[in-house]
Amino acid sequence: MTDDDVVAIRDHDGMVDYGRKFAKDLRAGDVVLLHGDLGAGKTTLTQGIAAGLHVGEVIQSPTFAIVAEHDGTDAEGAPICLYHLDLYRLATREELDGVGYEQYLEPVDGISVIEWPERAGACLPDRFWLLRIEYSPAGGRTVRREWHVQRNQSS
Ligand SMILES: Nc1ncnc2c1ncn2[C@@H]1O[C@H](COP(=O)(O)OP(=O)(O)O)[C@@H](O)[C@H]1O
Ligand SMILES: [Mg+2]
Repeated sequence: MTDDDVVAIRDHDGMVDYGRKFAKDLRAGDVVLLHGDLGAGKTTLTQGIAAGLHVGEVIQSPTFAIVAEHDGTDAEGAPICLYHLDLYRLATREELDGVGYEQYLEPVDGISVIEWPERAGACLPDRFWLLRIEYSPAGGRTVRREWHVQRNQSS
């Protein structure tokens, strides 16, 4: 882990803004894992990332489909696909294999944003952003951002 920062975000629009700014640093191949309880703001943050990637479509929770794919462009104008996954209702390992989960852990031509990645057990990418969203007593949220590199990866 080489980067770690925490910000307080007071409302919905702040969450969208956070995602939009964060998206500027994302490039093809990046994976973003979103941790947080139901209603924490994972989909809202994803909507911000989508806005930052110039995705025109509406981002909803892909709860029933598990994966939704959206076309966008990165900060340098290169075409990029946003893969939005939500594993909340995942029931079996077969279901994970059925959607080709592993390929979303190495999204060569895109960026994967994954809600409820913990439902996939120990199945993790080599390197990823982890955003931990927590409720704050005042009603907003805090977002802690961590960069993770799995052991035996050099940078
Ligand atoms: N930083 C925030 N402060 C207050 N409310 C927020 C914040 N971020 C999102 N919300 C609200 O929380 C609710 C749940 O958000 P959602 O993104 O659907 O959560 P999740 O995907 O984690 O279940 C929505 O009504 C959204 O507007
Ligand atoms: Mg959600």
